[in-house]
Amino acid sequence: MKILVLNGPNLNMLGIREPDIYGSSTYEALVTMIASHCAENGIEVKCLQSNHEGDLVDYIQQAYFDKYDGIVINPGAYTHTSVALLDALKAVQIPAVEVHISKVNEREPFRQISYVSYYCSKTITGKGFDGYIEAIDYLVGE
Ligand code: DQA
Repeated sequence: MKILVLNGPNLNMLGIREPDIYGSSTYEALVTMIASHCAENGIEVKCLQSNHEGDLVDYIQQAYFDKYDGIVINPGAYTHTSVALLDALKAVQIPAVEVHISKVNEREPFRQISYVSYYCSKTITGKGFDGYIEAIDYLVGE
């Protein structure tokens, strides 16, 4: 099982950005947690983060050529704006789960729309970093 974990804009600022919403742990801590969970369970994983929409599209496309079995994606603010990310997921047809650290459904109205959710088979919100682990395990169990 080969899983790609993609994080979008400002998720590299975890630990610094709005800790009341996103917690005080860093992006590096998230990557370490994902890596150790995957190592313990024999899952091959790669974690990538970008602040640029086109980079995220490129990473999704590359996942097709690198034969990934699943994608966990937290597109950050691009969740609410990006048809390009939705189209990239539809193009590669790799099973995908959407993750949000915060309870997006209880926040501003503009956060209630998710374009990638039109493709993702599951959306996990408000579970902090644990949401990524749940998403990986869901994809592995599929
Ligand atoms: C987020 C929620 C988005 O609305 C926000 O723009 C983010 C992070 C989350 O993980 O809760 O950057 O995706």
